[in-house]
Parts: sequence; structure tokens; C-alpha cells
Amino acid sequence: QVAAASGHTVVLVDQSDEILKKSTKGIEESLKRVTKKKFADKPEAGAEFIKNTLKNLTTSTDAASVVHSTDLVIEAIVENLEVKNELFKTLDKFAPEHTIFASNTSSLQITKMANATTRQDRFGGLHFFNPVPMMKLVEVIKTPMTSQKTFESLVDFSKAVGKSPVSCKDTPGFIVNRLLVPYMMEAIRLFERGDASKEDIDVAMKLGAGYPMGPFELLDYVGLDTSKYIIDGWHSLEPNNPLFAPSPLLNKLVEEKKLGKKTGEGFYKYK
Ligand code: 3HC
Repeated sequence: QVAAASGHTVVLVDQSDEILKKSTKGIEESLKRVTKKKFADKPEAGAEFIKNTLKNLTTSTDAASVVHSTDLVIEAIVENLEVKNELFKTLDKFAPEHTIFASNTSSLQITKMANATTRQDRFGGLHFFNPVPMMKLVEVIKTPMTSQKTFESLVDFSKAVGKSPVSCKDTPGFIVNRLLVPYMMEAIRLFERGDASKEDIDVAMKLGAGYPMGPFELLDYVGLDTSKYIIDGWHSLEPNNPLFAPSPLLNKLVEEKKLGKKTGEGFYKYK
């Protein structure tokens, strides 16, 4: 959405037409929200903006057949290294020489994905934040093999889609999640110990620290499955780090398929 809205030609790829239809509808709805604010007094210009953005956006269920015409691939599939590597290996065969590959992973090592391809120097991380149309940050991740030219292209692309890039090495959680995820896990532990209610913890962090959402609202927003993937991955890397310890309550909610806002229930219930 943000790439198309800033004039880039985008092919959105997913597994089925049904998913793509749902994604396109989500983009249309989000664009309406953005336009309402951006073109508050100019409804005609707003309609034109939506029309032009959607013109830049096509969809496909076959990544291998569309990758031949791309300069940049941004992968945002399931947080599973084997699945990601399989995809990158396939795309590597069909993509032009110059094409840069980037992953939007929250927690997996970019270096391991780059090593699944023959373009380690043209591989980096582009980590966006939910909701992407609103959040200004992009973390640009440079592995030891990412070339300076690739890094600069990723920084330039981030600026071209209207974001503020920061640079980070390929370390667990990069900058934001390395701080945010342990904080959210500490909030769950505080609640698990019965020291405060989740509602009070959320109010406290909003009114006492100026956060737009409390940790439980944010966990539900990000998705409890995503949060669990992240913490489990880090725990397996550093089992003795108490900041990365898994939470029985988080595990239970994920087991019960209470994954947050997207399933209608997580720490809170949603209509
Ligand atoms: N598309 C377009 N616009 C959107 C939007 C979307 N998906 N979601 C919200 N907005 C816009 C609304 O239209 C609204 O615009 P307005 O100011 O003109 O009314 C504006 O955002 C504010 O929205 P709301 O009034 O509905 O609600 P809030 O004031 O609470 O703002 C929020 C919503 C921007 C999500 C804010 O609560 C927030 O910043 N929350 C924290 C988000 C955060 O921390 N994200 C990072 C998560 S971590 C992550 O993503 C990393 C991953 O790897 C796990």
C-alpha cells in the first residue's frame, strides 16, 4: 500500500485469490482512512490518489512468474525460516541479477535467509511496523554480506515510501523488538504474578509513560502467535536469558487459538 501510494509499481503476491481479494479490500479501506486525513478539504484529489494508488497495484499467486520484472522483493510470509528459505531459493532462480531481496521478518536472522540464495550482497532486512500506513519507522538491516550499494538502495527506498529509516545490525529483534518484546513479556509476567490487572497495566503505560497503547492492547494488536514465535525463537538462542523466558499464559492463549484482535479474542475480547 505505501509503496503503491508513493508511485511504485507493486505486485502483491499471496497463496490464493481469496486471500488477495481480502488483502486488496483491506488496502482499499486503509487508503480511505489515509485519504480522509490527507485530502480532508479536497475530496476530488483524494479520489484521484486512491485511483492512482490502486492502478499501481496488481496481484498474483505465482511469485516465480512475476519476479522477473522486479527491482526489489519484500518478503512478509510466515515466520518460519525453512519456508522463507524455500521461497527465496526459488525466487533467486527467476529474479534478475540486480534485484534486491529483503525480508520483513520480526525476529529471524536475515543472514540465514541471504545464505539460502546466491545474492548475499543484494540481501537485507526492511522491517516495517503495524499499522504500516501510520508508523513512520523502517529498520534497515545490514548483514555482514550486504553491500553498501544495497544498503543505500534500501535506505533510499524507505525514504521514497515516506518512512524514516534507521540502520541496525542483524541481531535478534533489531532495535524496536529487542526493547518492545521483553517489555511486553514483563507486562505478562507482572499480570501472571497477580501484581496488577491487565487493564490497570495498560492504563498505567498509556497515562504514565505516554504509550499510545498499553502492552496488552499492543500484544493483541501485533498477534499473540507472532509474539510467541519471537520469544520462543530467542529463548532457543539464549535459554538462560530471563528476558527471553516463555510465558505459560501466552502459550495457553495461543494454544486456545486466542491470537488477539485478528481472531476476536486475545487478552481482551473484540466484537
Ligand atoms: N491504515 C490507515 N490509517 C490508520 C490505520 C490503518 N491500518 N490504523 C489507524 N489509522 C489511522 C486512523 O485512521 C486515525 O486517523 P485520524 O487521526 O485521522 O483519525 C489514526 O490512525 C489514529 O487511529 P485511531 O483514532 O483509530 O486510534 P489511535 O489514536 O489509538 O491510533 C494507532 C491507532 C496508530 C495504531 C496507535 O494506537 C499506535 O500508534 N499504537 C501503537 C502501535 C505500535 O506500537 N506499533 C508497533 C507494533 S510492533 C511491530 O509492528 C513490529 C512487529 O515486528 C511485531
